[in-house]
Amino acid sequence: MTDALLYRPAAPPEPERRWGEWRQALRLPVTLRNIYRIVREDFQAGVLDEYLWSFWGFHHEPGDLHHRARPWQKVDLKAIEPGNVRGIARWEMALMLNMAMEDEEPIPDYTRQSGEGFRFLLPALGRFMGKNEEQSRYGAGHGVAWCEGAWCAEERRHSNTLARIIERLMGMPPRRDNPNQPMVVTADDAAAVRHLISRQTTEWNASSSYVVMAAHAEGPLHLVLRNLERDEVKHLCIMSAADTYLFGPRPWRRFVALVKKGLENFTNQKKSRSGGEVFGTNPVTAVEGIASHLLTEYFLRRWLRTIPLLTLTAVFETESAAPRLLAAELPPERQAEIDATLSAERARRVGLERWAPRARQRALDQRQTQDARHQQRHERIRNNWYAAGR
Ligand SMILES: [Fe+2]
Ligand SMILES: [Fe+2]
Repeated sequence: MTDALLYRPAAPPEPERRWGEWRQALRLPVTLRNIYRIVREDFQAGVLDEYLWSFWGFHHEPGDLHHRARPWQKVDLKAIEPGNVRGIARWEMALMLNMAMEDEEPIPDYTRQSGEGFRFLLPALGRFMGKNEEQSRYGAGHGVAWCEGAWCAEERRHSNTLARIIERLMGMPPRRDNPNQPMVVTADDAAAVRHLISRQTTEWNASSSYVVMAAHAEGPLHLVLRNLERDEVKHLCIMSAADTYLFGPRPWRRFVALVKKGLENFTNQKKSRSGGEVFGTNPVTAVEGIASHLLTEYFLRRWLRTIPLLTLTAVFETESAAPRLLAAELPPERQAEIDATLSAERARRVGLERWAPRARQRALDQRQTQDARHQQRHERIRNNWYAAGR
């Protein structure tokens, strides 16, 4: 297909843009109310409990399809039309969709980052998200390019769906020659911790920006954006729970780290994405984006506080029964080294060694006395999943 037949993000002339911003500003109260309603509904504690428990399910009940990918609400993409965009200029909605598509596209590269990056820090998370170095090498050598984690199954549907939406809204398909270059992540401790922050930031940005887009959408467009958004909320909830398990409750330190990383990503996106020069120049969209980020953080944090260590340990530490992935053979001395690091890292996690001293002591005492409130909350999280008929 020639370039002329492909969608490329472009802004209209200045006066038209300003007029659009005015109209969007007048509608701001309605949009903010929509954002609040979406976040309140999609961050209910019971919903997040289920997402967290599905991580356990992925490792222990691999036969259950619900654990392999979050079920989507059926939407007819062909029914999406430009009239579904409300309260924002259509070109700006398409620009946001296109940026999201470029971010979502290199999923196979991200799965290698996380599979290798988390192999020692939190192996259950590594398996959920991707493949380690020797598993990727085996896959590449045998024509198995894909990864078998639930995270991949959920992410792989995003960029294609976004491309279809853009085509419906703009009347032509977007370019798919992606300028995005994922970085290389190693498994050493500092890199793995940085990667955990980076993943949380990405899932937070993705959730919050799909919330904004959904707040400007009606009908089938709204429904499909909610599908994408809920996948991202699930990832955000699992990543953040993993952060709490590894580092203990540290809401403000985590928040500062995420905001710093988010600002860095924003600057890079402006430089490297198609249409990046106009991204972030509309002050009304900026207000909506900030409100959405703050609300998602508020509701997530409220939920995180209620998760007992008992649940975090059950979810992130139990021996996985997920099918073992085939891997390239390693020399015996390298394998012995890997096994030793795995057990040292496990002892470090179970001993809560990365936690701040006071929080650590409190949690260890609660673990010892088997706090009844925590037991009850743990049972509720576990039973919620089964009560929902899974
Ligand atoms: Fe995604
Ligand atoms: Fe995600």
